[in-house]
Amino acid sequence: MLTRLYRLQGTEQDWAGALADAARVLRSGGLVAFPTETVYGLGANALDPQAVRRIFTAKGRPQDNPLIVHVAGAEQVPGLVRHIPPVAERLMAAFWPGPLTLVLPRLAVVPLEVTAGLETVAVRFPSHPVAQALLRTAGVPVAAPSANRSGRPSPTRAEHVMEDMEGRVEVVLDGGPCGVGLESTVVDCTSSRLRLLRPGGVTPQDLERVAGPVEVDPGVLKVRRAEDLGPVASPGMKYRHYAPRGEATLFEGDKAALPAALREAAEEAAKRGLTVAVVASDETLAAYRGPGYPISLGSRRDLPAMASSLFDALHRCDQVGAGRVLLEGVEPEGVGLAIANRLRRAAGGRVVRL
Ligand code: TXA
Ligand code: MG
Repeated sequence: MLTRLYRLQGTEQDWAGALADAARVLRSGGLVAFPTETVYGLGANALDPQAVRRIFTAKGRPQDNPLIVHVAGAEQVPGLVRHIPPVAERLMAAFWPGPLTLVLPRLAVVPLEVTAGLETVAVRFPSHPVAQALLRTAGVPVAAPSANRSGRPSPTRAEHVMEDMEGRVEVVLDGGPCGVGLESTVVDCTSSRLRLLRPGGVTPQDLERVAGPVEVDPGVLKVRRAEDLGPVASPGMKYRHYAPRGEATLFEGDKAALPAALREAAEEAAKRGLTVAVVASDETLAAYRGPGYPISLGSRRDLPAMASSLFDALHRCDQVGAGRVLLEGVEPEGVGLAIANRLRRAAGGRVVRL
């Protein structure tokens, strides 16, 4: 299959041709990758089970991992869910359009292919102008996971999407780099107490200000090491995710001990003939004296900027051919919770505590 790549510049009027093509592809059961404010999505008509099945094939995604349904506005949600609890109404009013996904009870029109057999559905109204224009033009809700091959870092640029998806999707809309850079916050609104299933740009503190106490799912920070997972582990447990190709280790804790610890690990890997990438803050890289490619996450003092550059940094590890990847950790506070969650998964649970 030939992938049509459209670079979108200017305003919505300039995108008309590309949007019309993409909308036609969606309505006829095809796949369109498009930018959102979080990461690029791989979209199909959410109400067409056959189109949704193509997403799983294109990504190599396990069948038991459900998809998020993207809508053109909150007014589309009652057509997809059985009931909207008041707390969900408050969250939508406060954070939509934006990087927040709500899990609600599904109506039968939402195919089980989308929800991986669950009786709930995840919905989100993105704020990116290209995503909004596409959703409006297509006129159908769009199921879209991140537009990467399963297990790989999520795409925050159209080039990342093309690396993983060229030849597997009909259309890629290039809207430039994504702003937030990490996937949306996912909150389960189906029980009496809100549960944070995946941290993102909207922090637990943001949620609590609007909606009261939030329970953080224990899976958010506990990642089991690939080696520790026995054959009985549930196939849905995605312990390795966001992974660069090289073996990655995360260094958390005492920042003063970090440059020396990174150097020791880098020298050891270099002795084994491996190309090393050191993904760290500017502060750490300024003090680092070891071998390897330094890849900056920006300043430690600017967590949103770190979030926004993280996946690009992981992609760059592959571009330099790193066989060994050393990652600087962040404190899991505020937006740091989302960054720490992605870093621990990228490292497949290999964490060194300093
Ligand atoms: O920012 C984002 O959310 C991006 C952009 C494209 O919108 N999408 C994204 O999709 O990250 P994906 O498929 O990579 O992640 C969807 C997450 C998974 O963790 C999945 O398990 C969870 O949402 N999810 C989806 N439906 C669910 C449901 N019914 N119950 C619980 N979790 C659900
Ligand atoms: Mg994903």
